[in-house]
Amino acid sequence: MGTLTICDHPLIQHKLTYIRDKDTKTKDFRELVDEIATMMAYEITRDLPLETISVTTPIVEAPSNVISGRMLGVIPILRAGLGMVEGMLKLIPAAKVGHIGLFRNPETLQPVEYYVNLPADATERLLIVVDPMLATGGSANAAIASLKSRGCTQIKLMCLIAAPEGVAAVQQAHPDVDIYLASLDSHLNDHGYIVPGLGDAGDRMFGTK
Ligand code: PRP
Ligand code: URA
Repeated sequence: MGTLTICDHPLIQHKLTYIRDKDTKTKDFRELVDEIATMMAYEITRDLPLETISVTTPIVEAPSNVISGRMLGVIPILRAGLGMVEGMLKLIPAAKVGHIGLFRNPETLQPVEYYVNLPADATERLLIVVDPMLATGGSANAAIASLKSRGCTQIKLMCLIAAPEGVAAVQQAHPDVDIYLASLDSHLNDHGYIVPGLGDAGDRMFGTK
């Protein structure tokens, strides 16, 4: 079973409160999601392997650590995942970015895939799938399955808010995938929205509806 990490740093929790607030405007919502993504990127890269090289300081030549060539990819699930990309790239600027377009059919809640575009060397990279919301888990599961069907094997999932139902669905379908969240919320309502959640992440990010 993959690990489940709740990124409970006070700064993340503080900013999360303001993106939940229905009165937070689009501009502030975007900025806060960007900032939280940067802080979560710090957590999700915590176990990157290091190697020791030699560095010459003004004083002496000494062994020192650098990240040992692990190549990363950030894979936003469109639309709302786009809002997390820039924040992540602030910490991992050499990462490549692939896109998976999915939307939930509002009646069936089933994900519909409409676009996939990945880095040519995606199969060699550690891929971090990003989406603010993990509700039923249908979209994340479909995105991860889409990556696996193209030969990708090293995959992590990073979401801001999840319902227990979504976490369980991903853990069951993809037990090899580690999940990183800012909050594990209470439950899903009858319309498949996370409670308390933040509403529709895509609409709040882009000012639609
Ligand atoms: C939202 C959200 C996730 C998905 C989560 O996207 O950004 O991708 O719902 O729900 P699930 O876990 O039940 O699949 P939405 O389908 O609203 O598309 P959008 O980002 O284009 O608005
Ligand atoms: N998608 C959203 O944007 N919000 C939810 O609460 C559930 C799915």
